[in-house]
Amino acid sequence: MRLLIIGTGRMAHNHATAFQGIDGVTIVGAVDTDPAALTAFNSQFGIRLGFTSLEQALAWNGFDTVTNVTPDAIHHATTLAAIAGGKHVFCEKPLATDAPRAWEMVVAAESAGLVNMVNLTYRNVAQLHKARELIASGAIGTVKHIEASYLQHWVSLRDFGDPGPWLWRLSTGHGSNGTLGDIGIHILDFTCFATGLDIAALNCRLQTFSKVPGDRLGEYVLDANDSFVLSAEFSNGAIGAIHSSRWASGHGNDQRLRVYGEKGGLEINHGRKGSSLRVALGADIETETWRDVAADPVPTNYERFAQAVRTGVTTEPSFRTAAKLQDILDSALRSGRDTSEIRLASD
Ligand SMILES: NC(=O)c1ccc[n+]([C@@H]2O[C@H](COP(=O)([O-])OP(=O)(O)OC[C@H]3O[C@@H](n4cnc5c(N)ncnc54)[C@H](O)[C@@H]3O)[C@@H](O)[C@H]2O)c1
Repeated sequence: MRLLIIGTGRMAHNHATAFQGIDGVTIVGAVDTDPAALTAFNSQFGIRLGFTSLEQALAWNGFDTVTNVTPDAIHHATTLAAIAGGKHVFCEKPLATDAPRAWEMVVAAESAGLVNMVNLTYRNVAQLHKARELIASGAIGTVKHIEASYLQHWVSLRDFGDPGPWLWRLSTGHGSNGTLGDIGIHILDFTCFATGLDIAALNCRLQTFSKVPGDRLGEYVLDANDSFVLSAEFSNGAIGAIHSSRWASGHGNDQRLRVYGEKGGLEINHGRKGSSLRVALGADIETETWRDVAADPVPTNYERFAQAVRTGVTTEPSFRTAAKLQDILDSALRSGRDTSEIRLASD
């Protein structure tokens, strides 16, 4: 597999490290509109060719796959261009900035018969897969109540006098859907994947906190949401509370999912300090005894993508899965704007 990396910022370092560790994958080139970032990246990872536009790379055409690690607003145009060039695509989340664009990408990739996957990173967490298996086996009974959170504190730690490349994440005009689009997508996927349930209806409260006088830094209006609280009804009638913030002081990157059924409870914690899965089942419920559950390692998304390109068959998480999540994000944004309850279309 001859891989081109599009975007050489912070997350691209994870992609380069992961893909260079997979047999049969060669990173043949990288693209960035910022020549300084591109040069530094290529020299760090020993990548021979650099391009300042995807068009230049497509004209060269010495690659068969791309990994798209550009900012959210750039995914749509660059992915469509790569697909038009006949390339398999691994794209960062969120797939696009809204559902119509995301579905356009699904249609383009599927009708071209190209492998299409999205980096919903927490699919790499072994405990998530074990939880899904336990819930599907009926271990906790019918799911009735769900509580999920994703907490970060990076905005509390920022120096707004010395803004960095993270600024686009705070501005809707630069294609950010705020905390909801950035990490809300992860906790929504975490919840739906573990439980095997879809969200049938939701309402959502969004909040943007003031950061600097006038809430603007140069061309960046700092208007993207910082926190959300979403109340959900799931496809089986269960209800749940899902919330997230990037002002959660003391939490670098912590996800927690709690799922309750009539036969037991289950809790996953995942963060920089590790992951755990525990359950309270059967007689343990009454004594409030929680027991740790071991989970076997699972392949990473990077490994799944390399395997999918080898076989020519898209596996999860696919563009289609990410577009369904984008439907939820669009609905949550709409609900946050007009305080309405939104019922989502079922498949
Ligand atoms: N899956 C995860 O857990 C995870 C974690 C972090 C970031 N991300 C996602 O990764 C993507 C990149 O995030 P980041 O933090 O690395 O951002 P970043 O701003 O650090 O890097 C983006 C890079 O893309 C370049 N770029 C912009 N427009 C371009 C274009 N048209 N062609 C080529 N390059 C272009 C920029 O110059 C920059 O170097 C985002 O979509 C983000 O949501 C995902």
